Amino acid sequence: MSKPLKDRTQLLDYLWRAQDEHGYIRHEDMEECTRALDISIIEVEGVVSFYHFFKRRPAGHIRIFLNRSIVSECKGFDRIRDAFERATGAKVGGVDPSGQFGLFETACIGLSDLEPAALIDFYPFTNLNSIKVRKVIGKLKQGASPADICDPVPDHVRWTPGGDRAILLREYKRGTAGRALAGHSPESVIAEVKRSGLRGMGGAFFPTGMKWEFCRHEPGRQKYIVCNADEGEPGTFKDRVLMNAMPGLMLEGMIVAAYAVGASKGLIYLRAEYRWLRDKLQHEIEHFRKINLLGNDISGIKGFNFDIRLQLGAGAYVCGEETALLNSMEGKRGEPRNKRFFPTQRGFLQKPTVVNNVETFCAAARIMQLGAERFLATGTPESPGTKLLSVSGDCRHPGIYEIAWGTTVKEVLELCDADRPHFIQVSGPSGECISMEEVDRRIALDDLPCGGSFMIFNRSRDILQILRNFTSFFKHESCGLCTPCRAGNFIIEKKLDLFAANLAQQDDVADIRSWGEIMKMTCRCGLGRNAPNAMLMAQQKFPGYFGEIVNHNPERLSKGFDLEAAAREYERFSS
Ligand SMILES: Cc1cc2nc3c(=O)[nH]c(=O)nc-3n(C[C@H](O)[C@H](O)[C@H](O)COP(=O)(O)O)c2cc1C
Repeated sequence: MSKPLKDRTQLLDYLWRAQDEHGYIRHEDMEECTRALDISIIEVEGVVSFYHFFKRRPAGHIRIFLNRSIVSECKGFDRIRDAFERATGAKVGGVDPSGQFGLFETACIGLSDLEPAALIDFYPFTNLNSIKVRKVIGKLKQGASPADICDPVPDHVRWTPGGDRAILLREYKRGTAGRALAGHSPESVIAEVKRSGLRGMGGAFFPTGMKWEFCRHEPGRQKYIVCNADEGEPGTFKDRVLMNAMPGLMLEGMIVAAYAVGASKGLIYLRAEYRWLRDKLQHEIEHFRKINLLGNDISGIKGFNFDIRLQLGAGAYVCGEETALLNSMEGKRGEPRNKRFFPTQRGFLQKPTVVNNVETFCAAARIMQLGAERFLATGTPESPGTKLLSVSGDCRHPGIYEIAWGTTVKEVLELCDADRPHFIQVSGPSGECISMEEVDRRIALDDLPCGGSFMIFNRSRDILQILRNFTSFFKHESCGLCTPCRAGNFIIEKKLDLFAANLAQQDDVADIRSWGEIMKMTCRCGLGRNAPNAMLMAQQKFPGYFGEIVNHNPERLSKGFDLEAAAREYERFSS
C-alpha cells in the first residue's frame, strides 16, 4: 500500500486504508503491520477484532450499516431491514451471492432525528422507507456511488434562547475566540474559564478550568489537547450538529485550551459513524492554518505553536471513555485503562493531556469571545450557561435544543411537541429514565443532569423492548475486560428474554436488581457501572408495569418471541 506505517499511532489509519482498498483487512495487511511495528500478529488481530467496522472477511463491495438504536426500532427498523434484505439479496450479517452488498446492523449512528437511517459506505441515508430503500439500491446497482446519492444531513436546530441569550448556537465568525487570546495570559484564560463555572459536556461534568489547570501544572514540554468527538451514547447527535454547523468553533476551543495548558499538538477523535464529516473538518483545519489560527505564533502570540490532526475511530462505543480513547489513538484495543493516573498526568503517549468533549470546547471558545459574565447570566448558580439537548423519539420536532440549564422536562416536552410522552430516557441508555410524575424536574446538575440525549417514548412503546435494546447494546459494546460487565450484561439480557417470553417470576426481578448492583459496584469503567441504570430505575419508577409483566400479560405472548428457546434458557439458568 502507498503510505508505509511508521509508528503505532498510525495503525488505525493504516487498517482503514487497507480495508478501503480491498474491502476487508487481509492477512497480508496484518503481516505488514507486524513487520513495520515489530509486534506479533496476535496483537494486530486483537486490534482489528476490537472494532466493529473492521472486517476480516470480504464484506461486500458496498457496505450497508443499518442503525438498530431504540429510536430506529420505534420508527420501523424491522421494515427497513426487510426492505434492504429484499433489495440487495443479502441477509443481515452477510453478503449477497454476487458479493456486491454487505448488510450489517450497528448501534446508534448519531442520526436519531432522521430515523430510520443507515450508512452506506459511511455516507448517511435518512428518513428511510421501503420505497426509498428500493430506489437507493436500484441506483447503486446501476453504478451510482453512495457519495453522490446520499442524503444531506440538516442540523435541525429547533430552539435556542431568545434575544441575545444563545451561547453555543449564535452566529459564528471565524477567529473571534482565537484572536481574543492575544489579550490574555494562559493563566488568565484558565481563570476566566474557571470563573464561568464551565463543566465538561461529555457526561461526567468535571470542571473544565480545573482540568486545564492540572494539565498546565504538569511538568514536561510535550502536552496534548484531545477532542472527544466519539458521541456514541445512543440518542445523542449534538456534537454532529456542532461539527457540521460550525467546525471552526470547536477548533477554536481546542486552540484556547492549548494556549491555556501549553500544548503544541491536538487530536480530534472522530467516530467512524461521522466519517462523512471528515472532509469538512479537514478543510477547516487547513483553512485555520492559512489564516494563522493554527501553526506557529498563532494570532501573533510569539511562541504559541499548535496544530491539529484528525483520527478516525473504527466503531466502538467504549472508545468514548477517555482512557479507552487514548488507547485507541495509540493504535491499541480501545480498552479503558486502570485509573492510576488522570489523562492530565499521563494521557496520550503517557504525556499530560486534556480530553474534552466537542461541546465543551465550543463553550470554552464562546467564553473567550463573550466573557464569563455572559455565560453566568444564564442557567442556574450550580449549572451556569446553556446545554445542547438532542431530542428524539415520539415528538413532532426532533432536533437540537439549546436550553438554559434549569429548564424543566415539561418545558422541553412542550417545545418539541411530544406525543403522549410516557417514558423519557435522559442522557442515553447509561442515564436515567423518568416517568411523567417527574416532569417538573429541572435539567441541571443538582437535579437531573443531562449529557445530551433526550429520548421520548409514548404509551404505545413497550418498556421491555426499550430495556432489551439497551441491554443488548451494552452487551455488544462491553470491551470484555472485566467479568461483571462481560457476564452481567449477558445475564441481564437473558433474564429480559424470560420477561419477554412471559416466563419471568418475581425472583427474576430481584435477580436483575442484584446483578445490576454488582455491576455498579465492581465494573472497571463507566460503561459497566452505568449499564444497569435504566433497568434499575425503570423497576423503581414503573412498578406497575413490572408487576404486570411478571403476572403474565398474555398480549406479549403474541409478539413473536421464541418461547421455546426462552424456556430452554430458563431451564439452563435454574439448573
Ligand atoms: C462508556 C463511556 C462512553 C463515553 N463516551 C463519551 C463520548 O462519546 N463523548 C464524550 O465527550 N465523552 C464520553 N465519555 C466521557 C469521557 O470519558 C470524558 O469524561 C469526557 O470526554 C471528558 O470531556 P468533558 O470534561 O469535556 O466532558 C464517555 C464515558 C464513558 C464511561
